[in-house]
Amino acid sequence: MKTLNRHGTAFIFIFIFYLIFYPFLSVAIDTITPTQPLTMNQTLVSNGQVFELGFFNTSNNFYIGIWYNQIQPRTIVWVANRDTPINSSTGKLTIIDNGNLMLVDKADTAVWSSNQSTPMVKTVAQLLDNGNFVLRPENDENPENYIWQSFDYPTDTQLPGMKLGWDRKSGINRVLRSWKTNEDPATGDYSYQVNMIGFRELLLLNNDGKIIWRTGPWNGRKFSGVPGMKTVSIMQFEFEENSEEIIYSFEMLNASLYSRVVMNSSGIAQRFVWAETTKTWNVFWSFPDDYCDKFGECGSFGFCDANTAPMCNCMTPGFEPKNKQAWDFRDGSDGCVRNRSSKLDCGSDGFLPLKNMKLPESSKAFVDQTKNLSECGEICKKKCSCAAYANMDVTEGGSGCLIWEMDLVDMRRYADSEIGGQDFYVRVAASNLGMFQFS
Ligand SMILES: *[C@@H]1O[C@H](CO)[C@@H](O)[C@H](O)[C@H]1NC(C)=O
Ligand SMILES: *[C@@H]1O[C@H](CO)[C@@H](O)[C@H](O)[C@H]1NC(C)=O
Ligand SMILES: *[C@@H]1O[C@H](CO)[C@@H](O)[C@H](O)[C@H]1NC(C)=O
Ligand SMILES: *[C@@H]1O[C@H](CO)[C@@H](O)[C@H](O)[C@H]1NC(C)=O
Ligand SMILES: *[C@@H]1O[C@H](CO)[C@@H](O)[C@H](O)[C@H]1NC(C)=O
Ligand SMILES: *[C@@H]1O[C@H](CO)[C@@H](O)[C@H](O)[C@H]1NC(C)=O
Ligand SMILES: *[C@@H]1O[C@H](CO)[C@@H](O)[C@H](O)[C@H]1NC(C)=O
Repeated sequence: MKTLNRHGTAFIFIFIFYLIFYPFLSVAIDTITPTQPLTMNQTLVSNGQVFELGFFNTSNNFYIGIWYNQIQPRTIVWVANRDTPINSSTGKLTIIDNGNLMLVDKADTAVWSSNQSTPMVKTVAQLLDNGNFVLRPENDENPENYIWQSFDYPTDTQLPGMKLGWDRKSGINRVLRSWKTNEDPATGDYSYQVNMIGFRELLLLNNDGKIIWRTGPWNGRKFSGVPGMKTVSIMQFEFEENSEEIIYSFEMLNASLYSRVVMNSSGIAQRFVWAETTKTWNVFWSFPDDYCDKFGECGSFGFCDANTAPMCNCMTPGFEPKNKQAWDFRDGSDGCVRNRSSKLDCGSDGFLPLKNMKLPESSKAFVDQTKNLSECGEICKKKCSCAAYANMDVTEGGSGCLIWEMDLVDMRRYADSEIGGQDFYVRVAASNLGMFQFS
């Protein structure tokens, strides 16, 4: 003890101070380490104070969640163990020996885990300012090397910078799934996801896989069935399809403004924006929004127009309601058929343009990115089974070719191209060419 100099004394003092205050000091951190798990009375706060991660409960069910740090009432954007709650108020989130995150209950039983193949490195889990909770090698912040991230396993909410859709390398498809009810985060009945089998669009599905609503194909700038998207000035939308991924995401142009998309438990996809002045979440848009948004409301070869009565219309001259009586009773679901005098004969057929249209269901549409609109028309004309065509991308004067060879369903017409929709060309018999056209 005689060798204990002034430095040594100071060191021991600091050490004891640290031991006493450690639990309190640890409250304002953003990282979990193997030696520093998260207990129920603690939270992580991201570096810029934007998001907070911790335990929350609904009655006796306890969950790990992420919410905005500075927004009241608490707005939960992610839940780790939505279908496996802890049933008592004891539990902790830790990093286990193999480097994975694990949530354990009172009895130290695992209720949730990041469950990745064993990384042979020391790992930490960090809550970032964009709301992403990432498991990464201790000294490596490169996103390429994240071992696991909450953005890959969404709950019901899409945040800026978070991708929905398919990562071809990992095979992960990121889908929003609703809560069971507003009070129960368990997996609910509705999902909102990138259409994986057809052309680029998002689908809102129920738990039987039935389409409730579709955004309409991405046309380079917007979804053809999301009115007003083109004129949004506060955020930027992206749909990317390449050899690595097929994804949809959005960014705020000013990162200090908040917006989020929620697949809500009653089957409505909502976009909210945070209004700082009133301290409320305003609904920016929500879908399905009206009668015409309901999938297939006007059947095959019919389209919906909220400004006509009835709202269901047959596509062009040459079509008539399949079931006249039901149609007259405002049930358009049987759609339309070509009338007798308008039979197609392939060679002499032509095309009538429809403006401001939400493009039809496109899971079996044929795509050729290299063709322009006039070439697209030529291809469609030669192919007797081709029912319609449109530009795939409407930016920079239009490019690419989309061709439909099946019944055309779930179309609607908007009042104005600034609101929604795009040009669409339907095959008709020669006798229908030059007749009255919708404009
Ligand atoms: C948090 O809870 C743990 C046990 O769950 C306890 O040991 C610790 O003292 C508590 N810390 C604070 C700051 O309340
Ligand atoms: C959460 O759990 C605590 C303690 O068990 C309880 O007092 C509280 O009412 C619960 N909160 C909710 C919202 O059910
Ligand atoms: C909580 O869950 C554990 C393990 O599943 C079970 O043994 C226990 O009875 C449950 N406790 C309550 C209060 O439901
Ligand atoms: C971990 O993943 C494997 C393989 O995907 C799966 O079989 C297992 O049930 C998962 N374990 C947990 C705790 O989720
Ligand atoms: C971003 O928004 C914040 C909050 O409204 C505002 O204070 C700031 O000036 C904005 N920044 C820019 C570059 O517009
Ligand atoms: C879902 O969104 C719709 C439309 O904004 C709203 O009326 C409804 O209350 C929401 N449902 C829930 C459970 O929040
Ligand atoms: C479409 O492409 C063809 C072949 O490359 C070209 O001859 C034609 O001028 C193009 N049409 C338009 C409108 O750009």
